[in-house]
Amino acid sequence: MTLCTLREVLDHARAGGYGVGAFNVTDIEQVEAVLDAAASTSSPVIVQTIAGASAFASDELYWDLLLRTVDHYPQVPVVVHLDHGPDAETCKRAIDAGFSSVMIDGSLDPVTHQPTSFEANVAVTKEVVAYARERGVSVEAELGTIGGSKDGATHAEIVLADPDEAARFVAETDVDALAVAIGTSHGAYKFTSPPDGTVLRMDLIETIAGLIPDTHLVMHGSSSLPADLREIINAHGGGLPESWGVPEDEKARSTKLGVTKINQGMDSHMAYAAAMRVALAADPLAADPAPAAKAGRAAMSAMVAERMAVFGQAGRADYTPTPLRETAALSLA
Ligand code: 13P
Repeated sequence: MTLCTLREVLDHARAGGYGVGAFNVTDIEQVEAVLDAAASTSSPVIVQTIAGASAFASDELYWDLLLRTVDHYPQVPVVVHLDHGPDAETCKRAIDAGFSSVMIDGSLDPVTHQPTSFEANVAVTKEVVAYARERGVSVEAELGTIGGSKDGATHAEIVLADPDEAARFVAETDVDALAVAIGTSHGAYKFTSPPDGTVLRMDLIETIAGLIPDTHLVMHGSSSLPADLREIINAHGGGLPESWGVPEDEKARSTKLGVTKINQGMDSHMAYAAAMRVALAADPLAADPAPAAKAGRAAMSAMVAERMAVFGQAGRADYTPTPLRETAALSLA
């Protein structure tokens, strides 16, 4: 069993001066793609998923299968993390299911999708931290509002994180990790031209890291949106708009400024979807989706392995993590 906490994996990353990719997954083939990449590159890894994002009828069934898949990879430290938990109840469900880390996103109201007050964000985050601590589970929170679509339904405007608020927020909530809005956005539409320092505020990372040195910083919306994958998707029936993401060298640079967790969903999904579209188009008689999914899994795994080298986590699974069950027993003692 290699399931361990976000805190432990990110502490190791900070000590080693590297970043860890947190890869969004929405089906079990994608879980396998990420874990295969971790095993082949000897990388500690974070597998993350948003509640309701899979095609399974219930989160509980999907999450159970996801956690069981991790058992097949004893050679690498794995964090199973809930991405963008919209409320305390969803975070508690993921913790009860066996996740070793959850994100409570108290920056947006779960119903109106409007930014919440600082006080409301602190209150819901504290509730989740109290529940998670008793069970040895790590917690990430969000300050400021990262733009774009988290679940295909919301399109919040970007509100940059305020460094003084970040320090106050951490003092009040004691979270393990903080997602700071620095100009990135989620999804397949990010920047209208290659981003410079006025839109991608890397300086904020450095300032905030200096104020909260014991808290891990998370860069959301880190996909690069590779143009070659967009062209393949669009040549096979897709209609993705031209857009620029976060350049690879900026992601690598962020790990030197204070980021330890780098969130990526769209790039992996583009790799998976492009390969599936090509496979389906190549066989007009295809009815069984498995061969196309197999091509998608292989393409996604190759892309994730490449990113692991960029983030610096490749070759760093050289330690024995504390299994979550032991961490939880220590917290309850
Ligand atoms: P992308 O949408 O850029 O892949 O980012 C994913 C993410 O930040 C999930 O929280």
